[in-house]
Formats: sequence, C-alpha cells, structure tokens
Amino acid sequence: MDENTIICRCSDITLKEVRDLISEGYVTYDEIKRITRIGMGPCQGKTCGQLVMREIASATGQNIKDVKFMTNRPPVVGVKLGLIAEEGKKDEK
Ligand code: FES
Repeated sequence: MDENTIICRCSDITLKEVRDLISEGYVTYDEIKRITRIGMGPCQGKTCGQLVMREIASATGQNIKDVKFMTNRPPVVGVKLGLIAEEGKKDEK
C-alpha cells in the first residue's frame, strides 16, 4: 500500500502519518487516536480501526489479536430516553 494512502477517510489521515507516529513510539491505538483524531469520525473507526491495528501489530511484532482497540466512549450527543426505551421494546419482540 502506498504511504500516501488515506486510511482514515473521516479524518484524512494517511498511512505515512500513522507509521511516523508508530516509529516515534506511539504504539497504542488510543495514543494515535488522541494525536490524529483517527477513529473519531462518523464511522467511529469501523473503517480505519483494523488498518491501524494491523500497522501497530506489524511494527511491534505483536499478533493483531493482542493489540487493544480504542477505548469506547458513550455518545457525544444526548440520546432521548424514549429512543432507548423504544429500542428495548424492539429487543423484547
Ligand atoms: S475512517 Fe477513520 S473514523 Fe471513519
């Protein structure tokens, strides 16, 4: 893959940027996320997450299963309790 390939389309982060950070010693997903905002776009890392984890695993010699994915946070925007209740009712059916 070309190093100028954008691996996070939500935040316009290239493969080179991720590799540079890893070579500087940032070898966890959360560290890279805090610096670049990778994984914080609308898809919440569903597109770029595995690519970043693969780069970390490759650079550190870890198995990708051992690389910790980002810490999940609650939604940034408020969610009405009525919506949550409706979703719960759907699960009961
Ligand atoms: S592609 Fe990275 S957060 Fe969506």
